[in-house]
Amino acid sequence: MQATPAPARSTSVPGDAAIVARNLSKRYGSARKGVDALSEVNLTIPRDRIYGLIGRNGAGKTTFVRIAGTQLLPTSGSLTVLGHDVLTEASTIRLSIAAVPQESRPLYFLNVDELIFLYLMTRGMERREARRRTDSILEELSLAPVRKRLVSHLSGGMRRRAMVAMVLASDADVIFLDEPTTGLDPFARREVWAAIRRAKREHRTVLLTTHYLDEAEALSDRLALIEAGQVKVEGTPTEIRDRVRLPYRVSVQGGFVRSELEPFGEVSAFDGGFLVFAREKDARELAMAALSRGARVALGPVSLEDIFLQIVGRPLDDGMDAETEA
Ligand SMILES: Nc1ncnc2c1ncn2[C@@H]1O[C@H](COP(=O)(O)OP(=O)(O)OP(=O)(O)O)[C@@H](O)[C@H]1O
Ligand SMILES: [Mg+2]
Repeated sequence: MQATPAPARSTSVPGDAAIVARNLSKRYGSARKGVDALSEVNLTIPRDRIYGLIGRNGAGKTTFVRIAGTQLLPTSGSLTVLGHDVLTEASTIRLSIAAVPQESRPLYFLNVDELIFLYLMTRGMERREARRRTDSILEELSLAPVRKRLVSHLSGGMRRRAMVAMVLASDADVIFLDEPTTGLDPFARREVWAAIRRAKREHRTVLLTTHYLDEAEALSDRLALIEAGQVKVEGTPTEIRDRVRLPYRVSVQGGFVRSELEPFGEVSAFDGGFLVFAREKDARELAMAALSRGARVALGPVSLEDIFLQIVGRPLDDGMDAETEA
């Protein structure tokens, strides 16, 4: 158990939030020649929930996580964690948080078991509890067979898992996971998902960033889409879906030129063919027309990835300087 009592819950936090950002801005570098990584961000992240931050490379996700994790100071605006201000109460906040940074360098001279166990002990956990939690997370993330292996001798994905294990074994109230499953195989990803859900059941708040939109959708109670340092959409996955004007996607390969597709919906070039976002009726009509012309066609509801495309105008994995093909 943690030696220091958890900070008292603040009654001023709206809706019992874990993290509240108000007009939060971060500029790296000088006022004249810097980069605006976050601009006037307002976010309320509820307690005891999983919250997903999504957005393209350079959108500002890690910057937000680092400010909330008290590793970086904001340029202006405010951010509180469990009611405590990052500017004035960072040391109090640090007692209740645990973080896996995007670029993590674990202590290579330790083995996996020691890495987790010593981390829990340095957080002030009682020895027996630290032992119990270490054993449990090693099983949960299938790390038991490599528990005695030096962290420096692990594969990249295994090392990532060891870092995630460390944090998910902790008793921190707020857990920051910056791309926890990047580089993990599909089985390991599912195990990490299960461990994240377990952390939620234990009344921890998880702030997660990811480039896998299926992951964001599967795990998050709420999501924020950040683009160029600004929150573009925020809500539950269902709310975000409901906000989409054209809820069906039809991909068509062959048989059509672009202008023939435009009456059906919003057309973009996609995978050597076209992607059309459409209303249900138009989507069905287009699918029938495409079939009768012998084109390859697929019809379905939009994915979170498509919603991203509709809102931002280009896909999540598109390069920073790429022009939209739409
Ligand atoms: N230490 C730094 N100094 C200067 N600029 C920085 C620094 N860290 C980040 N930036 C810039 O701030 C912006 C936001 O970066 P950030 O790392 O927060 O993005 P991200 O959403 O986490 O991206 P990714 O998906 O690639 O991890 C980018 O333009 C980035 O180049
Ligand atoms: Mg990042």
